Amino acid sequence: MKRQVHICEVGPRDGLQNAKHLMPTEAKKAWISALAAAGLEEIEVGSFVPPKLIPAMADTAEVVGFAKTIPNLKVVALAPNLKGFQRALEAGAHKVTFPVSASRAHSESNVRMTPEQMVEEVRKCARHPHPGVEIEGAVSTAFGCTLQGAVPEDDVVRIAARLAEFCDAVALADTVGYANPAQVKRLFKRVKSEIGSKLEGAHFHDTRGLGLANALAAYEEGVRHFDSSMGGLGGCPFAPGASGNVITEDLVFMFEAMGVPTGIDLEALFKARAVLASAIPQEPIYGHTPQAGLPKGFRAAA
Ligand code: COA
Ligand code: ZN
Repeated sequence: MKRQVHICEVGPRDGLQNAKHLMPTEAKKAWISALAAAGLEEIEVGSFVPPKLIPAMADTAEVVGFAKTIPNLKVVALAPNLKGFQRALEAGAHKVTFPVSASRAHSESNVRMTPEQMVEEVRKCARHPHPGVEIEGAVSTAFGCTLQGAVPEDDVVRIAARLAEFCDAVALADTVGYANPAQVKRLFKRVKSEIGSKLEGAHFHDTRGLGLANALAAYEEGVRHFDSSMGGLGGCPFAPGASGNVITEDLVFMFEAMGVPTGIDLEALFKARAVLASAIPQEPIYGHTPQAGLPKGFRAAA
């Protein structure tokens, strides 16, 4: 069965960076194995940021090394600068994603650089030899920011266009859950008319309950790559008020129920959720589909 949408599980990075409790390295490995066994072909397993800043990400090199042993899994890591990129290359990540905030305030809070400086940092990384490794520029706070408020669409379009000069792919991220479906359609359309097929991914947070609606709006605009997080974990520690990502279990259910194959098996995904729940029992995990169960007679997309 051919996947018609591609889902990247970002829980081990976006989720655990914001969790109150550390997940032990061995538990991360077991969770990632269970996610891959459910059919996830791409997992963002961690970030290469200073361990003092985000202790939950201190073991990312080991986690990348482990994840690379899982056949057919694309191992993704986040990096905020050249040092992080070099660490990601050394660990052997297949793809590295860079957060480039369209909001000036969030950029300075998150990476201590202006958006322009961050674009240049990513350009420097793209010039650094990285054979076979994909680079993604993720325009974060693309739909609004808890620090700055409104983010002009022109800023998003300009940053996306610069990133498209040297990144393999560009994504738009609603880091703080401000987006609505009309805005999603408008902005994806505008950025696509500027950079064409370089615009690839959509990253939504469910802070105001619009995560799935936004994902569907992006799908209708032709987007086929989505980030999501098991149990709806997630949030940026440097963007106050940000909460969890769109929930993987519900996103997979939505597409499968619509007849759009994801390549992910829901029953196996629920098993991975049980692994997550036992690995980090103090953390609240969300999800409508796993709580309600699959509809009677439900059939996954063929
Ligand atoms: N990995 C490990 N260590 C790093 C590093 C990286 N990617 N980047 C910098 N460092 C180290 C430096 O070597 C230096 O160490 P030293 O004090 O022992 O000399 C120290 O961290 C400070 O380096 P500096 O370049 O001045 O960084 P900074 O303090 O200005 O922080 C970032 C800039 C980009 C590294 C930091 O803001 C960051 O990691 N932001 C990302 C936060 C995040 O993960 N947000 C959520 C995901 S979007
Ligand atoms: Zn996020």
